[in-house]
Amino acid sequence: MRRIRYCVANWKMNFNCSETKSFLENWEKKDLINKEVKTIFCPSFTELNTTAKLLQNSNSELGAQNVYYESNGAYTGEISCRMLKELGCQWVIIGHSERRSIFGETDEMVCNKLDKLTSENMYPIVCIGETKVERENGKTEEVLSRQLSVAFENQKGKNIENIIVAYEPVWAIGTGITATNDMISETHQCIRNIFSTNGFNGSNISILYGGSVTNENAAELSGITDVDGFLVGGASLDVNKFYAIYNQL
Ligand code: 13P
Repeated sequence: MRRIRYCVANWKMNFNCSETKSFLENWEKKDLINKEVKTIFCPSFTELNTTAKLLQNSNSELGAQNVYYESNGAYTGEISCRMLKELGCQWVIIGHSERRSIFGETDEMVCNKLDKLTSENMYPIVCIGETKVERENGKTEEVLSRQLSVAFENQKGKNIENIIVAYEPVWAIGTGITATNDMISETHQCIRNIFSTNGFNGSNISILYGGSVTNENAAELSGITDVDGFLVGGASLDVNKFYAIYNQL
């Protein structure tokens, strides 16, 4: 079976309203000829509304960079699934390494978010990845296995085809260093095996690579077996670079 391919822009804490508009007005002029690749934009919460409106006539979809797992209540500063859905947001990034390392997001919180999103019929983009020290100490498989087993604990027996996994080695994010082709291929295969060991059909799940993807390395990276697309940070802030990445998938 051919898995869906994705090109996801994680704009992180960039782009105010005018920058969002300027990017998306240019994006609208691009010909999204590659029908087999889905494009998703994940702006800051404050730009979701603007982005939703500007994507109205586009095939590109809307995602958020985070969500809280409770439905409502006294959770100052948090955003619920219902609030996101109201804006037309279907996708949500969870477990990003910046949220794990800077904001203390744990595997258990990722699990709670995954459960909440699936119960709300929203689509999670679950980020996993090892640090440099973990890779150097041969712990990559152990770390990914823990992150995935905890996150997907309550998904057993359920259809997980609408969940994306993004493998983002922490040491490759924003550093200009990409993992080697062999590393990516091996690790994506390892992730599929972890799913199979946990009782899921690992061959159905779309696994994206993220970490210093650019218009210059996208062609090579997209040719790697088991890579079903990209989660792009820095290079997604430039409309021509992001379009070039999309075109190489
Ligand atoms: P960069 O593409 O800037 O390395 O960021 C990757 C990332 O964190 C996407 O979520």
